Amino acid sequence: MAGRLDGWNAIISGGAAGAGGAASDIYAREGAHVAIIDRQAEAGRARADAITAAGGRAFFLQADVSQADQVNAAVAAALDRFDGRIDTLFNHAGTLIVKPFLETTEEDWDWLMSVNVKSMYLMTRAVLPAMLKLGTGSIVNTSSISAVAGTPNEVLYCTTKGACHMFTRAIAIEYRDQGIRCNAVCPGFIRTDHGLRELKELRALNVKVSEEDIATLQGRICEPEEVGYAALFLASREASFVNGETLFVDNGMLVGT
Ligand SMILES: NC(=O)c1ccc[n+]([C@@H]2O[C@H](COP(=O)([O-])OP(=O)(O)OC[C@H]3O[C@@H](n4cnc5c(N)ncnc54)[C@H](O)[C@@H]3O)[C@@H](O)[C@H]2O)c1
Repeated sequence: MAGRLDGWNAIISGGAAGAGGAASDIYAREGAHVAIIDRQAEAGRARADAITAAGGRAFFLQADVSQADQVNAAVAAALDRFDGRIDTLFNHAGTLIVKPFLETTEEDWDWLMSVNVKSMYLMTRAVLPAMLKLGTGSIVNTSSISAVAGTPNEVLYCTTKGACHMFTRAIAIEYRDQGIRCNAVCPGFIRTDHGLRELKELRALNVKVSEEDIATLQGRICEPEEVGYAALFLASREASFVNGETLFVDNGMLVGT
């Protein structure tokens, strides 16, 4: 059976673990040759090896995607392996600070903006020229329900995700007529290291996110693959007329509140 990304070259940031890791597996199963860019070398190599052992094609490149020199080197190495052709980019890497607003520092602000927002700018800036040369390409960014729903003790995080929403829309508008689509996946709470740490730290600050609360908000916790499949759809030709969209993957949390 033909894969939905047969013959495609894909770059996935944060593709070593969590929902980005699930996307690496899914994209490869759908036929893509996947470049995993992540700061975690052991997990990244293990993911690429597992994909290869299962008959897929993937390789790992280590980079901190908040650092321009590391992004440029990793993207150049990926494009080299891909003979200059890149079909899709998934900007998934990101992280979280949970703290009362007045305890946050300027360093926290700069770091989180760099990892969650500047990383998308750097990765997209490095990859886009090759897509423009091809005249086609899709970019998917990981935003969050936190882009539109505030959570106490997450002012910095929510602010970064609001920026991811607008980055997505502005890229979509600027490059639409050159064949580029740019969309975002916006998950609720996912069963990943990030999501489980977030829940633990919010509970420690008495925010109402017990298992019962999560069941009320989004039915159950989201599995990493459910985000990976939403990203796959937005990346693929099946979403050819979907552009500048923010797709909530939250089992109705936002529409129910
Ligand atoms: N888990 C959730 O509940 C949830 C909900 C909404 C949005 N998100 C978003 O998903 C992304 C986090 O992914 P996850 O939940 O799959 O978590 P995760 O922590 O399991 O995975 C994140 C991956 O990104 C990598 N990464 C983090 N910072 C990096 C950096 N500076 N450079 C390179 N790689 C880096 C990590 O090494 C890891 O492999 C973030 O963008 C986050 O905002 C998560």
